[in-house]
Amino acid sequence: MQKLIVQGGTRLQGKVNISGSKNSSLPILAAALLTKEECIIHHVPDLSDTNYMLQILRELGAEVERASGTMHIKAEKIISDAPYDLVRKMRASICVMGPLTGRLRKATVSMPGGCVIGDRPVDLHLKGLEYLGATVNMDGGNLHIEAKKPLKGCTMNLQGKFGSTVLGTDNVMMAAVLTKGTTIIEGAAAEPEVEDLAHFLIKMGAKIEGAGTTRIVIEGVKELHGAQHTVIPDRIEAGTFLVAGAICGDGVTVKRVIPAHLKNVTDILTASGYGITTTKDSITITSCATPKGFHLTTRPYPAFPTDMQAQFCALACTIPGLSSIKETIFPQRFMHVSELKRMGANIDLEGDTARITGVETLSGAPVMASDLRASAALVLAALHAKGSTEVHRLYHIDRGYEHLDEKLAGLGAVMERISA
Ligand code: EPZ
Repeated sequence: MQKLIVQGGTRLQGKVNISGSKNSSLPILAAALLTKEECIIHHVPDLSDTNYMLQILRELGAEVERASGTMHIKAEKIISDAPYDLVRKMRASICVMGPLTGRLRKATVSMPGGCVIGDRPVDLHLKGLEYLGATVNMDGGNLHIEAKKPLKGCTMNLQGKFGSTVLGTDNVMMAAVLTKGTTIIEGAAAEPEVEDLAHFLIKMGAKIEGAGTTRIVIEGVKELHGAQHTVIPDRIEAGTFLVAGAICGDGVTVKRVIPAHLKNVTDILTASGYGITTTKDSITITSCATPKGFHLTTRPYPAFPTDMQAQFCALACTIPGLSSIKETIFPQRFMHVSELKRMGANIDLEGDTARITGVETLSGAPVMASDLRASAALVLAALHAKGSTEVHRLYHIDRGYEHLDEKLAGLGAVMERISA
């Protein structure tokens, strides 16, 4: 196990290149299963999650080559059973279910367990596949999807009680592209990562309209061909660095980003008093002597993203006055709160809402990472705290951030990764 020793009180300055999006890469790598021909995917971040996905594709029979950020995938002959020991390690592996169902009309994937951010059901994924004509059975913790007759396009609504589903929309879209007829997904997730997947599928020959909105229309085709694609930048990594620039920066620029994907994040930073300037592919944040508290609610894109909630919780701890954060996507996603309180934060958690009163200083302490965004929030708080902080269970960070500590060190942060 590794831990990070972070020295507090440093100021960050400079430019950082943002990596390709983890949450775009995972479904796009899975989508390569939809064709026998070779797909080449560029700008895939080197993370444990993307490496797990490559292992799963290999176990399903695909030939996979990684050359730094470029993946060559050729799924000429594949089987329909995803390996339990790999699938259980990463919930996102559920997104092989759609392509396997679309191409083989059969899929066996282990039911993903819950995780620290709360229950992670897949009922909407399964409802969508059943709408297309598949039957779903579960035994021994495995989901068995099968379509004895060819799947048929139809109109469906994929909204659940927590709103839209990102990977659920991805799965249904990947099954529908090879399904005869027209499939209309109402209540679809509109996240940029869903739109990026659709762009890749269209390059493969799929007929899709409306991706990036809540209504996606898919005309099924007989087969798809290989394609090349470059994954969009990771808006959550970019947002994490912008919060670092707010908490302890004197001018931090995130490069190779799509500013429009972060409007929901930069709007709040601007309203709090931080200086935000953008170019076509970069955003610069400058510090603010008297930042104001903020009140935000997480909702599906284009609203404020749940994946930035923990980082803004850490930021609120450093802003005088009251801030509040209401989490509507994963109401239990507050594992970072108890750890921030160990550093002296003043946070009152009531159900799905955290009320944060900023404190003069946070103090370094040994803290425990739990999910990847909570872990990043602890590192951000540690940069601001007095003294040094030990962040344990670094594997959470390595799941979703490509070289986070090295990139922060490049901006002036003082930290050391050691084996615990
Ligand atoms: C994706 O997860 C992201 N992961 C998550 O990012 C992100 O937090 C989430 O979308 C929301 O934006 C990847 O893209 C790999 P959902 P996903 O289905 O698709 C409920 C990170 O930090 N729901 O959009 O699994 C669900 O419980 C990760 O990078 C159902 O009820 O999330 C949640 O409350 C964490 N039934 C809400 O919908 C279902 O069948 C949104 O979940 C599916 C979901």
